[in-house]
Amino acid sequence: MSKTLIAPSILAADFGNLQRDVEMVNQSQADWFHLDVMDGVFVPNISFGMPVIKSIAQHATKILDTHLMIVDPDRYIKTFADLGVNYLTVHYEACNHLHRTLQAIKGEGMKAGVALNPHTNISLLEDTINDIDLVCIMSVNPGFGGQSFIENTYEKVEKLKEMILRKNASTLIQIDGGVTNKNAKQLAAAGADVLVAGSYVFRSENPTETIKNLQNLLA
Ligand code: DX5
Ligand code: ZN
Repeated sequence: MSKTLIAPSILAADFGNLQRDVEMVNQSQADWFHLDVMDGVFVPNISFGMPVIKSIAQHATKILDTHLMIVDPDRYIKTFADLGVNYLTVHYEACNHLHRTLQAIKGEGMKAGVALNPHTNISLLEDTINDIDLVCIMSVNPGFGGQSFIENTYEKVEKLKEMILRKNASTLIQIDGGVTNKNAKQLAAAGADVLVAGSYVFRSENPTETIKNLQNLLA
C-alpha cells in the first residue's frame, strides 16, 4: 500500500497572511495544496477564485489540487490549467456531461477529479471510473470548513476501493471534510489515498507539527 497523502485546505488559512501560510505548507511534510473554489450557487458560500489562486501558485512548491464547487465548471477548465493547477476536480452533481468534462480537463494537461456529495452513490461512477484520476468523497456537505465528519464515509471508501480494484483503475481516493487525527488512520485503512484537512491543520496551535503528527499516524 502506498503512503496516504496530506492536502491542507487553504480555505482555513489566514487570508491576511496568505503567503506566510503557503510557505508553511511548503516547508511542512504536507504533500499537496487543496484549493476550494465556491460560487455561491452550487454551494451556499463564496470562497475565492482566479486572482487568489494565481497568488498561491506564485509561492506554492507542491501539487495544486483544486476542488471546484461551482455550476457549469467546463467554462473555466482552460483558465485553471493556465494558472498551473495540477488536479482539477469537478462535482458529479454539477456536470451534465461528465465524460466530456473529464476529457476536457485531461486535454488541458491536468489530472481529472470527480467529487461526490454525501448523498451521491459511488455506483454512479461505474461507467467512468477508468477515466477518473481522483475521486473526492465529500465527508461533509460542501460549502464550509469546520464541519463534523459523516461516519457513512468509511463504507463509501470501501465500496469505491472495491470498484477501482475490480475495474483495474488507477484512481486515487480523496476524503474531504472533517478529517482529524481521530479518523485519518481508519480512512487510510479503508482505502483513502489523499486526506484533505482544513481547520484541523490551520486552527491548531502549531500547523507544521499537526501535519507532521498526521503523517506519523499514517506511516
Ligand atoms: C468543504 C471543502 C473542504 C474544506 C474542508 O466544502 O471542500 O475542502 O476546506 O475543511 P475542514 O477540514 O475544516 O472540514
Ligand atoms: Zn475541498
